[in-house]
Amino acid sequence: MKIGVFDSGVGGQSVANAIKRALPDHEVLLREDKAHVPYGLKQPAEILQLVIPIFQDLVDSGCAVIVVACNTVTTTLIHELRRHFSVPLVAVEPMVKPAAAMTKTGVITVCATPTTLTSARYAELKDTFARGITVLEPDCSDWAAMIEENRISRNAIEMMVQKALKQHTDVIVLACTHYHWIESDIKNVTGNKAAVLQPEGALIGQLKRVLAQLV
Ligand code: DGL
Repeated sequence: MKIGVFDSGVGGQSVANAIKRALPDHEVLLREDKAHVPYGLKQPAEILQLVIPIFQDLVDSGCAVIVVACNTVTTTLIHELRRHFSVPLVAVEPMVKPAAAMTKTGVITVCATPTTLTSARYAELKDTFARGITVLEPDCSDWAAMIEENRISRNAIEMMVQKALKQHTDVIVLACTHYHWIESDIKNVTGNKAAVLQPEGALIGQLKRVLAQLV
């Protein structure tokens, strides 16, 4: 089957690579929006206009399912997109629930774009799953661009992680798929002091369930 994967930029490549490794018998069609990345500083209405034609192109190309490999799109627009398209949409979203279940210190850190952090869905996730837990939200506003343009500042990453560790974080959530590319840099700083969560494993599990229903 054809699986469409969408992100504003290189975050999609990380997710598409993981899908190809896990599901080698399927064809993966990756679409990015290099002309408009980063999305994480844009308003949802603007993002909706950008993604509709790209999703439509994936549908027209015969995709049986589309993976929304962009937390910014999921947290702001997943309901609109599900109304608009009849193919199943399998989406990443900030892993607040598993992080909250896992923390022993009661402090978690969510790294995400400004648009994700101000979304109603993200507020709902915190309200539903992280009541009584301290959620640190460091300023990662230039990270997607930094990773997209391959000018990664290991110093900026280390400063953020050290600050979070000083505040007793024991779980760090990568809630932007661009940050999957710096997962090992973050883990190099955390060592065994904090777990680092990203959604590719869970996403593939969900994708397998959806594909099984389509055959
Ligand atoms: N990779 C996207 C996400 O998961 C957004 C990056 C951006 O375009 O700002 O949120």
